[in-house]
Amino acid sequence: MNTPIYIIEEEKLRNNLALIREVARRTDAEWILAFKAFALWKTFPIFREYINATTASSLSEARLAFEEFGAKAHTYSPAYKDEEFSEIVHCSSHLTFNSLSQYERFHKRAGECSIGLRVNPEYSEVGTLLYNPCAPGTRFGVTADKLPEQLPEDIRGFHCHCHCESGSDVFERTLVHIEDKFAKWFPQLEWINFGGGHLVSRKDYDIERLVRMMDGFHKRYPWLKVIFEPGSAFAWQTGPLVASVVDVVEDKGIRTAILDVSFTCHMPDCLEMPYYPDVRGAVWSPESGDDRGLNKAPSEPQSPNLEDLWVYRLGGNSCLSGDFMGYWRFDHELQVGEEVFFEDMIHYTTVKTNTFNGITHPAIGMLKMDGKLEILRQFGYEDYRNRMD
Ligand SMILES: Cc1ncc(COP(=O)(O)O)c(C=O)c1O
Repeated sequence: MNTPIYIIEEEKLRNNLALIREVARRTDAEWILAFKAFALWKTFPIFREYINATTASSLSEARLAFEEFGAKAHTYSPAYKDEEFSEIVHCSSHLTFNSLSQYERFHKRAGECSIGLRVNPEYSEVGTLLYNPCAPGTRFGVTADKLPEQLPEDIRGFHCHCHCESGSDVFERTLVHIEDKFAKWFPQLEWINFGGGHLVSRKDYDIERLVRMMDGFHKRYPWLKVIFEPGSAFAWQTGPLVASVVDVVEDKGIRTAILDVSFTCHMPDCLEMPYYPDVRGAVWSPESGDDRGLNKAPSEPQSPNLEDLWVYRLGGNSCLSGDFMGYWRFDHELQVGEEVFFEDMIHYTTVKTNTFNGITHPAIGMLKMDGKLEILRQFGYEDYRNRMD
């Protein structure tokens, strides 16, 4: 196989989509795709078989919804800009404002859009600050103490996002806070959007609990239409990034396999989130020295015995010194040219990649139901050059 390449597997994608469609039916809610996690528009015809709408957070995403997905977007942006607003309205069915000042500035120009306000329940169990929208000083949403008793009459919905790869138990605890703080305004609304981060396609997600919760919610507020807008759940575990070993180097007992991919360019969440990805056929081996200190204090690597332990740091081919992660134990000695599969590398990768260092961007392929690999996109020098045109 020509590497590097992201491979999205149609069967796994369809499994997630079928599951989400069923969850939508059972929760009596609309489930829409958040482009921020996944926007491979050549797969939209498949999505259209299962869902009807998407959520956008910028003009480009709103256009993608309208022009490529074929349905107007549920749009939320932290801050709309004057010169983009009319086009966003043109591409949107729902438009959520992040603040009352943005609402004041733009609501009269929202046309036919159903207007929403992002609210912040000041409760989130997301541990990583980078992903916690309720951390003190947050710039997301209006807190209950700032809302007027009577909402402006053109506000039709509340939008609330406080999860990240969360289970329904987290949502259950969060919903208590949402209702405590905001239920008094619900009679003035038509819809509520519970945001993303609901990882229904993770194997241990308790869907029955979610269904029970939503049954109760609908009984309490039968007039409210409920919307969920996950991204990760759609593309969760739908395929790998396949790389090749280009060289193996060694220093101070640390052996690094240099690959034809880069963490900073092609798997940025590994460094940002941070987390250690699964590598096919290898075991993540923190006892060899967790040199980033992601899970414990940095420690000296334990100088693996180079002869009988095939433990490797995996290094990117950029010039960033920190473009590596450690360690993985393989069951054989890695050879130049050999393929290395990083699992679950579709969501929040293909949307976040960059061409730093001019490193060749991985191709994007789709493993079809019939087992054939279709190349959706290949990248070359022009892609690097043209973004600075
Ligand atoms: C407002 C909003 N909606 C939806 C999502 C999608 O979340 P996820 O991909 O975790 O489901 C995010 C993620 O940051 C978000 O900020």
